[in-house]
Amino acid sequence: MLFVTGGAGFIGSNFILDYLAATQDEALLNIDKLTYAGNPYNLSTLENNPRYRFSQTDICDSTIIAELFTRYRPRAIAHFAAESHVDRSIASPDEFVRTNVNGTFNLLEAARRYWSTLEGKEREEFRFLHVSTDEVYGTLGPRDAPFSEITPYAPNSPYSASKAASDHLVRAYHHTYGLPVLTTNCSNNYGPYHFPEKLIPLVISNALDGKPLPIYGDGMQIRDWLYVKDHCSAIREVLARGTPGETYNVGGWNEKANLDVVHTLCDILDELAPKADGSYRDQISFVKDRPGHDRRYAIDARKIERELGWKPAETFESGIRKTVAWYLANPEWVANVRSGNYMNWIEQQYGGSASAQPA
Ligand code: NAD
Ligand code: DAU
Repeated sequence: MLFVTGGAGFIGSNFILDYLAATQDEALLNIDKLTYAGNPYNLSTLENNPRYRFSQTDICDSTIIAELFTRYRPRAIAHFAAESHVDRSIASPDEFVRTNVNGTFNLLEAARRYWSTLEGKEREEFRFLHVSTDEVYGTLGPRDAPFSEITPYAPNSPYSASKAASDHLVRAYHHTYGLPVLTTNCSNNYGPYHFPEKLIPLVISNALDGKPLPIYGDGMQIRDWLYVKDHCSAIREVLARGTPGETYNVGGWNEKANLDVVHTLCDILDELAPKADGSYRDQISFVKDRPGHDRRYAIDARKIERELGWKPAETFESGIRKTVAWYLANPEWVANVRSGNYMNWIEQQYGGSASAQPA
């Protein structure tokens, strides 16, 4: 059994779909509180899949988390659950500290207790994979080398500081207790099921709705974009063959200025869903900058490429086209998210039951 936390979110749901398709036999338990960012519709195709289980649980609930470990005896945990949006962390940081720091601590404690009862092969093979971000490294100047695994931590937002704190706890549990942990620090993801509060899905959905496309500051901030399915394959590789105690930077060598990303999105939309009049570029609107806005992120992904042979399958050009095509083909997903209707899904489908596949 593999535990996945935060599996109803953007990357977690892509990971679950990818993992079940790419592997055989092993069952998976998705542990998700279903915050505003958790959308069980993403996984509705798995309703009758005997390898999939769901538990609506807060990772901060130590009693239920301990019970899940005792009951399912996982061979590994892939920990995605987090508050993930930088702007929300600036507006209200409390939940970021609670989930990202205390929640990760709670999972580490439960995993340590459980792992200490294991023997032989089970003990040797257990893994705690912590999914983290490149934002823990802070910001780069235009000519700085990309972030490597030895770049010192310098987080700048409450979000990145909470992720950095969780990375340090994960590291300490390996150093002090020997818990077989793995950490991945990935750059900006994009692709299907991306919540339309983040730049790329926000721009696609606002463009189609005829709304302004908000660009913070001068729009020349740089992010290093990776198609979400490439992040999923990297996590599978690290889980299967990564060395306990090591961290792996994951990125696609795709540095782009925000304004260029938005121009690309507008141009693809002009081609695939042309407006009656003019270009989607006409909707671009420069707005007040994000406080403390990091100027540039870039990932040096040579370690994971060299040691695990991982490489992204998509270029930015191919991945961004697939992404726009997915949003055009799934307008009801966006409408559902924007209306908040997806939040009623558990109630509608299961009458409020906490478990989609009662176990
Ligand atoms: P997301 O916000 O889309 O999803 C987060 C998921 O975690 C949701 O399903 C939510 O319901 C769940 N969750 C939140 N608090 C919880 C709690 N207390 N208990 C249980 N579940 C809870 O996030 P995402 O973009 O999919 O990111 C997933 C992970 O990857 C995060 O740890 C994030 O820091 C990391 N990451 C994200 C990116 C990116 O570009 N999105 C890049 C690098 C790393
Ligand atoms: O680098 C990895 C990180 O990428 C993850 O750890 C985070 O969870 C994820 O949210 C993402 O953080 P960013 O802040 O980089 O992503 P976001 O989509 O919010 O913003 C991307 C860039 O676009 C950033 O420079 C801010 C800018 N932006 C964003 C929004 C929402 C705008 O200019 N306008 C907007 O409306």
